[in-house]
Amino acid sequence: MAAGRRVYIIGFMGSGKSTTGKRLAATLGWQFIDLDKEIEIKAGKTIKDIFSTSGEDHFRELEAETLTRLKIKNDTVISAGGGTPCHGSNMDFMIRTGLVVYLKMTPGQLKSRLKGRANSRPLIKNISKTELLQYISAKLSEREEYYLKASIIVDGIDLDIKVLSETIKAGFAG
Ligand code: S3P
Repeated sequence: MAAGRRVYIIGFMGSGKSTTGKRLAATLGWQFIDLDKEIEIKAGKTIKDIFSTSGEDHFRELEAETLTRLKIKNDTVISAGGGTPCHGSNMDFMIRTGLVVYLKMTPGQLKSRLKGRANSRPLIKNISKTELLQYISAKLSEREEYYLKASIIVDGIDLDIKVLSETIKAGFAG
């Protein structure tokens, strides 16, 4: 059976990739997959535990392996992790196998969305509130080099799912 069409949702931690991915999948009538959840199923551990017991490098190996081995038959929206596009050849893989959508937000917007939600996110759990904005600004400027390769870039705050789903359908038609 031919594999289904794929849309990958990328963006910084806290940019709403899973929520947007689910809403987009529902609007398109497609399946939804959360890459972080798939990694947790594969590892039998939470992301937090993978980082604390085996470290980030091991997490990145699992992430790349899970991404490239997803078994997909139907049309599917996949929400990536914040770092997925920035490691190994993940971004090239996503560009090659689907349409990539970047949910763009400013460091200030990300900070207010991430405040108080750091506990489940190993990369920011030890960053103090006063340093959070600086951390996000620095990390985002490193990562945007990858994020900006997406073929569709949308404002993550002012997002119209209907418009995005039409853009995606047009993207696959062309
Ligand atoms: C990460 C983001 C997380 C998760 C892991 C690493 C990152 O996903 O994959 O903690 O490198 O930015 P979310 O973006 O869904 O929080």
